[in-house]
Amino acid sequence: MTRITLTATAVAVLLAGCAAGGPDPKAMEEKFAQLKQTNFKPRGIATMDRLKQDEAQKLCSNPDAWSGKEFEAARKKVEEINLASVKWPSDGKFLGDWKQGEAIAQSGRGLTYTDTAQTVNGGNCYNCHQIDKKEISHGTIGPSLWNYGKLRGVTDPNSAAAEPIVRYTWGKIWNAKAYNACSNMPRAGHMGILNEQQVKHIMALLLDPASPVNQ
Ligand code: HEC
Repeated sequence: MTRITLTATAVAVLLAGCAAGGPDPKAMEEKFAQLKQTNFKPRGIATMDRLKQDEAQKLCSNPDAWSGKEFEAARKKVEEINLASVKWPSDGKFLGDWKQGEAIAQSGRGLTYTDTAQTVNGGNCYNCHQIDKKEISHGTIGPSLWNYGKLRGVTDPNSAAAEPIVRYTWGKIWNAKAYNACSNMPRAGHMGILNEQQVKHIMALLLDPASPVNQ
């Protein structure tokens, strides 16, 4: 009898605690936003504008703030916005030189506060992907891109048959969120990390039948 009374009291206390003292998620969010503004300091080219989130970052940083249905709709919208923003090659040529592509994929330079606006950025692709098997130092956050073109049957990247995969690959590298709103992959073209010519070279690394990736 005494035990039952105690348990009921404990539950009552707990419930009261929740109602009165639980953190309000909205207030916490505002506090966090303030904290970011006061604790982050601009340094060199890394300025405070990097804290501004676009619609994709807002959605994917806080997915629990949405109901399942709302999230699905918002995710679709984010993908549409990002796909519509993809800049396709201005001269219609998708592939450059795979050798330069390999160097760009290897390089993780650029965009830090010790870099300057003139630093040539790398693509940092090996940080997350296996690409050429000769490079054994690579990350595994993304899928292996070894034999990328070969596995997808690309024998002539300029053929009509190859067009869908060539266009998808360009779109994915330019803006990974065009196909997956909450992708962990940086939006190389969209965010100005790589320019059009650099993306062409990386495309060749993945899709040129002469690239070591496709041997
Ligand atoms: C921070 C990690 C990260 C970096 C850096 C990164 N990627 Fe990715 N990449 C991913 C992840 C994760 C996926 C799979 C999930 C998704 O985005 O759909 C992916 C998917 C891909 C795909 C699609 C593969 C397929 O079969 O559909 C391609 C192509 C690709 N990455 C190329 C690149 C290239 C080229 C670079 C360098 C410019 C690069 N990635 C840099 C994480 C990364």
